[in-house]
Amino acid sequence: ANERTFSILKPDATRRNITGAVNAVIEAAGLRIVGQRRIRMTREQAEKFYEVHKERPFFGELVEFMTSGPVVVQVLEGENAVAKYREVMGATNPAQAADGTIRKQFAESVGENTVHGSDSADNAKLEIAQFFTDADIAA
Ligand code: CMP
Repeated sequence: ANERTFSILKPDATRRNITGAVNAVIEAAGLRIVGQRRIRMTREQAEKFYEVHKERPFFGELVEFMTSGPVVVQVLEGENAVAKYREVMGATNPAQAADGTIRKQFAESVGENTVHGSDSADNAKLEIAQFFTDADIAA
């Protein structure tokens, strides 16, 4: 089905000025960028966004990293967008990511792994709503 997913180009992507290169991979996969904004995430936004990982040992590091520089938040739309984007991103750990994936091409480590994508359509809705209103999205 046609669906939407939520994406973040993380601070390691803005720092290295590769957001356009990442977007080219996203678009080449047939996903449309129907919403996009470059922001500086606040600590509160990052802690809320990653709340499910609160008890993980890397939570503090994750919040520090996500607030260390600008990010680009995006709404991606397309056929099976959630699963397709996860395929395009590749494994969380770039060392395990398949050839041609964003993380294989660009990611530096499991923490600084260039992109985030929703893991389900339900989470995509919740995540999109944290950063976008309907007026910010044009399909
Ligand atoms: P993301 O899809 O944004 O969701 C949770 C993030 O936690 C994940 O991407 C990784 O960047 C990060 N993460 C997962 N495992 C580790 C780890 N061992 N150390 C640091 N960060 C991690």
